[in-house]
Amino acid sequence: MTITDELQELYEQGLAAFKDATDPASLEAARVAWLGKKSALTSTLRGLGQLAADMRATVGQHANEVRGQLEEAYQQRKAALADAALAAKIQSGRLDVSLPGRSRPIGTQHLINAIADEVSEIFFGLGYRLAQGPEVEDDFHNFTALNHSPMHPARSASDTFYVRDLSEEAATFDGPEPSEVLMRTHTSPVQIRTMQASKPPIYIISPGKVYRRDIADPTHLPQFTQMEGLAVDEHLTFADLKGTLDYVVKKIFGEERSTRFRPHFFPFTEPSAEVDVSCEICHGAGCRFCKGTGWIEILGCGMVDPNVLVNVGIDPERYQGFAFGMGVERIAALRYDLPDIRLLIEGDMRFLRQF
Ligand code: DAH
Repeated sequence: MTITDELQELYEQGLAAFKDATDPASLEAARVAWLGKKSALTSTLRGLGQLAADMRATVGQHANEVRGQLEEAYQQRKAALADAALAAKIQSGRLDVSLPGRSRPIGTQHLINAIADEVSEIFFGLGYRLAQGPEVEDDFHNFTALNHSPMHPARSASDTFYVRDLSEEAATFDGPEPSEVLMRTHTSPVQIRTMQASKPPIYIISPGKVYRRDIADPTHLPQFTQMEGLAVDEHLTFADLKGTLDYVVKKIFGEERSTRFRPHFFPFTEPSAEVDVSCEICHGAGCRFCKGTGWIEILGCGMVDPNVLVNVGIDPERYQGFAFGMGVERIAALRYDLPDIRLLIEGDMRFLRQF
């Protein structure tokens, strides 16, 4: 075989080897075998020196051409394998861009909390501060200090949830008797706790959960939300109470609404009143919405009974107070014309998302 034939054979075998390489490892092995330092082609090139001078130039040129072509075949195969690898990768991780995305709905404040915050903000603007108290209360703060007589019906076990502590610590507990521990029935005990803990002037607003043994129906819930307000200062009169609540009710329901104060009774205020807001539909004329009265009841209030001030060690000769309590679910029901306040606690997103 002439050296030319040998080179031709090397060329064809090398080409075939690169073509047969189906992955980077076998391609690299082929490169080492056909283009590497120990390859037949390299030794042929090294042996050129022993050739007769006239043959050296032609054979050398031929050998270099073979080397260049094999080098090119190798590079092409390398690029082709890289393209195939990329295509396979894209194929395996393929995204179906027509699929609907995963939605991450953004939570919002519940309507009850939103209204409680909104009303609190109105009072903050008047210089009131936030006060909080426990939901598990004792008889003293929930009833006695608030001037309820020992036989007051709200104390009955059919109206109030009493709490019995079944834990081991209860045996050594030296607080109130178990029968005196209850779920607070209103936010008014926060008045007592605040007056015990701080000196007048006091201006507080206290939103929170309250509990009553009521069966849930369109206008009642066994657990609902109240907002308690208390002002204790020198020279406070019923006119201050009226002015404050009229201002706040207009802020909540709209400037065009008016208020009406009706005499009422609460054990902890004297005098006491219930406050009505003029009917949104008929503006006082009387319609089906307000049952023909023209007014809708929204809160209870009054001047803090001197007995209550005495119960917490505040001198009723020097200080006067006014207080009020309103139901947040009721405000929501009136403002959004809700047919049933149970909607507020059922967690039905179709309802809650509207607000
Ligand atoms: N605690 C009363 C209730 O739950 C609401 C109330 C009325 C609170 C008059 C007050 C008030 O502070 O002065 O029905």
